[in-house]
Amino acid sequence: MANRLSGKVAIVTGGGAGIGEAIAKKFAQEGAAVVVAGFAEDPVQQVTNEILASGGRAVAFQGDLSHEATALACVQTAVGQFGKLDVLVNNAGAFPAAEELDKYPVEAFEYMVKNNIYTTFHMSRAALPELQKTRGNIVAAGSEAGQMGEPMNTPYGGTKGFVHAFIKGIAGEQAKNGVRANCVGPGPIDTAWTHKETGPMTSKMEKQTVEGVPMGRRGTPEEVANVYLFLASDEASFVTGAIYFVDGGVTISKSSSGAEVSSDLKKEPDGELNLEHSKDGHTEIRSQDAGHMMGRSPQ
Ligand SMILES: NC(=O)c1ccc[n+]([C@@H]2O[C@H](COP(=O)([O-])OP(=O)(O)OC[C@H]3O[C@@H](n4cnc5c(N)ncnc54)[C@H](O)[C@@H]3O)[C@@H](O)[C@H]2O)c1
Repeated sequence: MANRLSGKVAIVTGGGAGIGEAIAKKFAQEGAAVVVAGFAEDPVQQVTNEILASGGRAVAFQGDLSHEATALACVQTAVGQFGKLDVLVNNAGAFPAAEELDKYPVEAFEYMVKNNIYTTFHMSRAALPELQKTRGNIVAAGSEAGQMGEPMNTPYGGTKGFVHAFIKGIAGEQAKNGVRANCVGPGPIDTAWTHKETGPMTSKMEKQTVEGVPMGRRGTPEEVANVYLFLASDEASFVTGAIYFVDGGVTISKSSSGAEVSSDLKKEPDGELNLEHSKDGHTEIRSQDAGHMMGRSPQ
């Protein structure tokens, strides 16, 4: 157990699967007490149990974090269980469809607005009073898609563009209160979303996605968690309003040069975390109120 977050209390939204599992386990390994938050269907209790079994401190929180009351209850869980809140990680998100815009399902767009934007807004708003007390910080999941756009999922890139600008606004507004706010911008990561078997991508889209990475491979959840750790820690005390891309070079690439990378260089690092839920994230539209949030009836 290392100590780069020793004595800190963190909430990790979407902490039951994919990148969120790695962030939760990395933070716990570095000494933080972690609220592992996600939908009731997510393996948040399993991740919590795995952290506890390895000697860390964690508690599970289950609920739809796109609602104001649930977001407030999640923050209250951190304060009630661990006495304060130092770090909010807004990692929860959705990627439910891959279609050109003229065929893009309206319900999938609304689902992403709910899970990528409403979650980030409500959790940040609910956490801010506690973060002001601790001079804490927010780290949010942006994306290379928020900078470059996302062909075949155009609204996804739009929601991540919102997150980038929203977090920069918080950074400028809340610096006077000692609160930092930053984004991590992953490229394609080895979770359920980027595999045709477990996500909405076709085999052509999956191939183009990976070949568009100059390093020729997906990143691992742990490689992304390492950057969340830095930004959340006091080592980043002069970093605010930044977007740290963890994308193997996607945002500086103009071609499918990843296809030229040799297989030995494409090997993912083993890492040190014991990740059991990398592919347990969901890509289908889930939860009872999807489709109702904008006053629409389910189609
Ligand atoms: N995987 C990638 O290639 C990639 C690339 C760029 C950015 N990102 C971002 O990283 C984050 C994590 O992605 P991932 O691939 O690990 O996804 P994932 O599906 O594996 O994990 C996301 C988790 O968030 C939860 N969640 C979503 N909406 C929620 C809500 N309203 N309330 C509670 N929980 C909710 C999901 O149920 C899921 O468990 C997302 O914000 C995503 O946009 C991912």
